[in-house]
Amino acid sequence: MTAKATETAQTAETAQTPETAQTASAAETARTASAAETGATHEIRPAAVEVHDVHKWYGTHHVLDGVELTVRPGEVTVILGPSGSGKSTLLRVINHLEKPEIGHVSLNGELIGVRRHGERLKELSERVILAQRGRIGFVFQNFNLFPHLTVLDNVAAAPVATGRLTKPEAQKLARDLLARVGLADKAAAYPRQLSGGQQQRVAIARALALRPGVILFDEPTSALDPELVGEVLAVIKDLAGSGTTLVIVTHEIGFAREIADRVVFMDEGRIVEQGPPAQVLDHPDNERTRDFLSKVL
Ligand SMILES: Nc1ncnc2c1ncn2[C@@H]1O[C@H](COP(=O)(O)OP(=O)(O)OP(=O)(O)O)[C@@H](O)[C@H]1O
Ligand SMILES: [Mg+2]
Repeated sequence: MTAKATETAQTAETAQTPETAQTASAAETARTASAAETGATHEIRPAAVEVHDVHKWYGTHHVLDGVELTVRPGEVTVILGPSGSGKSTLLRVINHLEKPEIGHVSLNGELIGVRRHGERLKELSERVILAQRGRIGFVFQNFNLFPHLTVLDNVAAAPVATGRLTKPEAQKLARDLLARVGLADKAAAYPRQLSGGQQQRVAIARALALRPGVILFDEPTSALDPELVGEVLAVIKDLAGSGTTLVIVTHEIGFAREIADRVVFMDEGRIVEQGPPAQVLDHPDNERTRDFLSKVL
């Protein structure tokens, strides 16, 4: 969506009651500081993904407790952590499937799910959020393909539905993407006719079809038989090598070591440690990271 269209859409929903209203001043301060820091010598593009002071509660359960995360364009971030530590919730907050009670997320410098209203943040309309979400690919553990659509149409559907491409254009793109994930010969098949590894590769092609700014993976191989894990990891590795910005929740430590620019370790809703894989995986500072790695390595 163009900046102008976004603005129009945002104006159109100003009459709505906000579902969340948050203070934006801390974020402004951080952004200004970060621009001043980076403008002169290093990275001048905004972070691909910036998660700022995000808190999320389910009832009284504080599942995200002040999460700060910055993912640079082209960077691969792997998130590790025990079950229930908030990894999936964090991914769902990034694409605004879950709304944080405090804090916010931006993609390439643009707030996701909310807009500034003076000192506060107000929820955007569902229509605008859906358009934003189109720029954030999401690959789920259980593939979530449309069972009634062919593989080709699974990949081609969203660019057509969002008006980005005509049907012939989307089908051409889908064929190219299926070739990229090694499934050119499966275009006419239905998901039930594919193995889990093949279905997951279709799901990755589907995520790529919207040319997202970042792709989030939530345990993309954990529902697969062991012999099918490698083919999916190979596709993700290819994406990582081509400069796609990726955030991956996985328990595949060896894979994390191989492809991550940064490993993030979460525990009880907090990022307790992050850094290059050699540091976090081989010389963790934090006791809980050490404990977790000793159980999974
Ligand atoms: N919709 C929900 N309603 C209530 N509680 C939830 C909901 N979703 C998640 N939780 C709780 O929030 C906590 C974090 O869940 P989350 O799914 O983010 O953990 P996770 O790190 O992804 O775990 P796993 O490795 O098992 O996938 C858990 O205690 C979970 O039970
Ligand atoms: Mg999870």
